[in-house]
Amino acid sequence: MTALDVALAEFQAHFPGEPDGVWEAPGRVNLIGEHTDYNGGLVLPIALPQRTYAAVRRRQDTILTLVSAGMPYCPPISLASIVAGHPAGWERYPAGVLWAMAEAGYPVSGLDVAFASDVPVGSGLSSSAAIEAAVAVAAPDLFDCGLSADESGRAELATLCQRAENHIACAPTGGMDQAAVLRSREGYALNLDCADGSIRHVPFRIRDKGLALLVIDTRVEHSHATGEYGQRRADCEEACDRLGVAHLAELSTNDLPAAMARVKSPRLAQRVRHVLTENDRVRLAVAAMEANDFVELGRLFVDSHASLRDDFEVSCPQLDLAVVTALEAGALGARMTGGGFGGSAIALVYEQALPATREALLTAFEHHSYAAPKFLVAEAAAPARRTVVPCC
Ligand code: GLA
Repeated sequence: MTALDVALAEFQAHFPGEPDGVWEAPGRVNLIGEHTDYNGGLVLPIALPQRTYAAVRRRQDTILTLVSAGMPYCPPISLASIVAGHPAGWERYPAGVLWAMAEAGYPVSGLDVAFASDVPVGSGLSSSAAIEAAVAVAAPDLFDCGLSADESGRAELATLCQRAENHIACAPTGGMDQAAVLRSREGYALNLDCADGSIRHVPFRIRDKGLALLVIDTRVEHSHATGEYGQRRADCEEACDRLGVAHLAELSTNDLPAAMARVKSPRLAQRVRHVLTENDRVRLAVAAMEANDFVELGRLFVDSHASLRDDFEVSCPQLDLAVVTALEAGALGARMTGGGFGGSAIALVYEQALPATREALLTAFEHHSYAAPKFLVAEAAAPARRTVVPCC
């Protein structure tokens, strides 16, 4: 059964009648531009073929009933009860979206929703943004709420999903994940400028070049709701205060020596160096992709990983091992992707080297007594949208 079939079966098992429709949203993988989003910088993610499906029916009251294949039961939620930290668990993501819509003045009602997903959870591939976006993209169809499904409507939906994540799920994340799943385009990477929300779609069809993007899930679960992620964000904010800027990405690498001296802290100087050099790498990566220079793109991946590991200090031994092993097996480049502290790495490899690269990774992880990594081959897929199904 596909995840779509499971979502429909879950709906039928829990709710009488048919859903009004099914909406889907992808996971994402970021090619480069890490921890730049909340610094007003550039990112370059792609949407994945792996999707979360939501079979949804509008209710006449203000109760949210959520079920999800393989997830714990959650009691019905009154829309009025949604506040920071409540509900807890996976249901905070869909509940948060309705909260954010209501808070922004859009009319919303209760919903019956059945979810099913093949986006791996806890792998740093934005399974939470996929849940949020699957609900958000249904809103223009279900509620007469003045939101549209065009590009400007999607930008607004991405903002609402980020607010859900920040205020209800209490994860202080930037806006990359929500933009990636709502504003990407099939066959393209999304070059988003987080300073003003502007986007450019950059062709990413590496299969034509005999290349593949291998996603290596280290199986080290991460969470951005607590601890280290917020600490990095706080470091960046402190550096901004000391430098008198609103966002670090207002500065360029030309400003780096002076900025590193002015923050008067070796730790903050490292954080600033990561953000400014990473922002530059995104620009260079876009140019490399447009010039079909994948050797250069791979080199930028390697530099990005070193900067995240040494300056931003968000890697972990499993991510480092994945990167080193993929490079030894002949990858053009490899790096951790997403927030770090676990999750996934990506490697740009020749398609014919995929089996040997996977084998090398399994052997290396076994040698270190780490859990066996899991693999995906990522392709740039379509964004969140209504799913065409015969029933609805
Ligand atoms: C997580 C967050 C994003 C972004 C990345 C790091 O995925 O959700 O907003 O900050 O980490 O680039």
